[in-house]
Amino acid sequence: MVIGDVREEPLEGGECTAQLIARRGGDALFMRTDVATWRDIDALISAAVDRHGRLDVMVNNAATASGTGLLDTTPSSGKRSWASTSPACSMAASELRNRWSRRSRAPKCAAGSSIWGRRWGSSTRRTIPLRCQQGGRHLSDTADRGDYAPQLIVCNCISPGKIVIERPNFPPDPELENARWRTPWPRLGRPQDIANAAVFLASDRATYMTGSNLVVDGAG
Ligand SMILES: NC(=O)c1ccc[n+]([C@@H]2O[C@H](COP(=O)([O-])OP(=O)(O)OC[C@H]3O[C@@H](n4cnc5c(N)ncnc54)[C@H](O)[C@@H]3O)[C@@H](O)[C@H]2O)c1
Repeated sequence: MVIGDVREEPLEGGECTAQLIARRGGDALFMRTDVATWRDIDALISAAVDRHGRLDVMVNNAATASGTGLLDTTPSSGKRSWASTSPACSMAASELRNRWSRRSRAPKCAAGSSIWGRRWGSSTRRTIPLRCQQGGRHLSDTADRGDYAPQLIVCNCISPGKIVIERPNFPPDPELENARWRTPWPRLGRPQDIANAAVFLASDRATYMTGSNLVVDGAG
């Protein structure tokens, strides 16, 4: 496994992911990567192919939210958050196609979107940039599918509802209360819920399925 991120230490603290995988007997390499740049994506995919000889699955989950309402979003914060999502997914899928067009086993590509990319609902104006960003991610995935299906490269999307991530050094998440109120499932989401969906999309059980948006949100 090759992990790309702008930072190696998890935002929630604790052990780095590559070390955790290695401690459990896996093989993982961390590469500092900014998915807003093609050069970094190219280097990341090259490292995976050099190390393992092929590429089976790619998960595009990195994101930077501007954290502001539409009217308060500056050109640089908007550009940064947009560049880390939809174009990154398209660039990554395009890199895959360029390298994989004549191989026997085609890779699978999963992107992390959000339920906010699909629905409007009652939430605040503050989430408009996030909705545009995540909707764009799903749209780019849907558009990619027609381009890449002939090479058997599948591009699917996961749209989580609220996923609770413990971050001891961060202020309380202001969205938690609203998420509890709107989610009928007796608990909010956990990272493992999203991992389960990603493992399914990466597995050989996900057949003839591309451009879909798997919603994992406890009906919230
Ligand atoms: N956590 C939730 O409740 C939730 C709900 C719905 C959707 N999502 C979506 O799931 C995805 C992941 O969310 P998360 O909560 O795990 O976010 P997170 O902030 O915990 O993790 C995002 C990771 O992306 C990295 N990153 C940011 N910009 C990058 C860049 N340009 N290049 C490389 N790495 C970069 C960050 O360093 C971080 O490690 C996002 O698209 C988010 O919008 C999350």
